[in-house]
Amino acid sequence: MGLVDANSAGFVHGGTVMMLCDEVAGLAATRHSRHRVVTAGMDRMTFLEPIHVGELVTFTASVNAAWRTSMEVGVRVEAEQPRDGSVRHTNTAYLTMVALDDDGRPVEVPPLEAASDDERRREREAQTRRRNRLAEREEIRRGRSG
Ligand SMILES: CC(C)(COP(=O)(O)OP(=O)(O)OC[C@H]1O[C@@H](n2cnc3c(N)ncnc32)[C@H](O)[C@@H]1OP(=O)(O)O)[C@@H](O)C(=O)NCCC(=O)NCCS
Repeated sequence: MGLVDANSAGFVHGGTVMMLCDEVAGLAATRHSRHRVVTAGMDRMTFLEPIHVGELVTFTASVNAAWRTSMEVGVRVEAEQPRDGSVRHTNTAYLTMVALDDDGRPVEVPPLEAASDDERRREREAQTRRRNRLAEREEIRRGRSG
């Protein structure tokens, strides 16, 4: 991360981290679906520790769950201090990406085949986040319709 990524205190802007999370999530979802994708929502963005100018930042994305046309992608962000090699987990993000066909309409994506315990845990947790998001939307809709 360089000076243009940071504020005057030397901390990398949250928006810069979010933009890069969005970019890697899009790539992971494209590789899974083999379609172009759009971001439908960022379900969570956690800032655990600040990232400083001069640190090397790694973004690791995985498709956690695939539904009909949408996928949840989780992104783990780690910052490495290049002089001593120490690595810190700085952020976690969960984004919903939707695959589109050539006419820009949502298109079905292949199912996810969770093979390891970790993959099954990620899928289970993604289902929980989706359930909670839809329940929240429904509760707000009911509240507004009086
Ligand atoms: C995302 C988008 C394609 C969904 O279109 P839509 O007409 O609502 O389509 P559908 O109702 O068929 O929904 C398609 C999928 O998107 C999901 N979706 C729609 N809105 C969502 C939201 N706010 N959060 C999470 N998922 C959402 C639906 O659950 C559905 O998933 P499923 O097929 O796996 O069940 C459309 O809202 C859009 O183009 N938004 C703008 C995207 C954008 O510009 N992103 C930034 C630049 S990449």
